[in-house]
Amino acid sequence: MVSKGKAKEKKQQRKEMLARMGAAQQLLSKANVSDKDHMDTLIPFKKYNRNNVDLSIECVHYEQVKDDGDTFETIYQILEGNMKAEYDACYWGWNEKDKRDELKEKNPWFLVAKNSEGQTVAFSHFKFDFDEEIAVLYCYEVQVTEEMRGKGVGKFLMQILELIGSKAEMQKIMITVFKHNPRAIHFFADILKYADDETSPKFMDPMDEKDYCYEIMSKTLKVKKASGS
Ligand SMILES: CC(C)(COP(=O)(O)OP(=O)(O)OC[C@H]1O[C@@H](n2cnc3c(N)ncnc32)[C@H](O)[C@@H]1OP(=O)(O)O)[C@@H](O)C(=O)NCCC(=O)NCCS
Repeated sequence: MVSKGKAKEKKQQRKEMLARMGAAQQLLSKANVSDKDHMDTLIPFKKYNRNNVDLSIECVHYEQVKDDGDTFETIYQILEGNMKAEYDACYWGWNEKDKRDELKEKNPWFLVAKNSEGQTVAFSHFKFDFDEEIAVLYCYEVQVTEEMRGKGVGKFLMQILELIGSKAEMQKIMITVFKHNPRAIHFFADILKYADDETSPKFMDPMDEKDYCYEIMSKTLKVKKASGS
């Protein structure tokens, strides 16, 4: 039988959990207004002029991407070109319809980097979402075309995502990385200083960790309350 004291403690814990989730939901609703400009206070980050690269970067909701000429199709083609072999190398496999649907699913956001000819050459697909009762920025993709790699573009896009996440008061930024993609693991762990997330299979299912083809990595964000946002 549960004692009166224990029951009261449980009730209090549940009340606190609901309050935390309510606060997180409010932040998510605010961040997911589809015409919000998450880069309104990040103007210097809208241009990338380094290493002989000249890019314009925008943060847009899928609602805007779908109406922007061939941008959505180019995003899909970059993703397939970069990742199909990685997916096919594990039990997930590549499924074009699922991937296209995933890029459009509820509240998807994009960072889109275009060159001076207006061609999309890199992007990130991310969401403001719940993870284990907290509000997080989940980066589903960061993809740079082969000819643009090693010029700092990936690092710059991730820096923007961290700033957007902090500004929206997300507690952490998360990403799923294939174990068989050592370059991406190096990029996140060594360059960007991400750590294995507590929800990663190595912590959630340590006995069968080898059955999983991915790691979940994350970084805690410093909340940056922007005035007027
Ligand atoms: C991973 C990826 C996003 C990195 O983007 P990028 O623009 O090439 O990376 P950057 O030029 O910003 O490089 C950042 C750092 O990573 C290192 N790096 C980049 N590409 C590398 C590579 N191919 N091998 C080893 N290190 C690499 C660089 O040395 C650089 O370090 P530095 O700043 O100390 O010089 C890009 O390679 C990519 O799109 N890969 C295919 C898709 C993918 O795997 N995405 C990640 C999972 S969603």
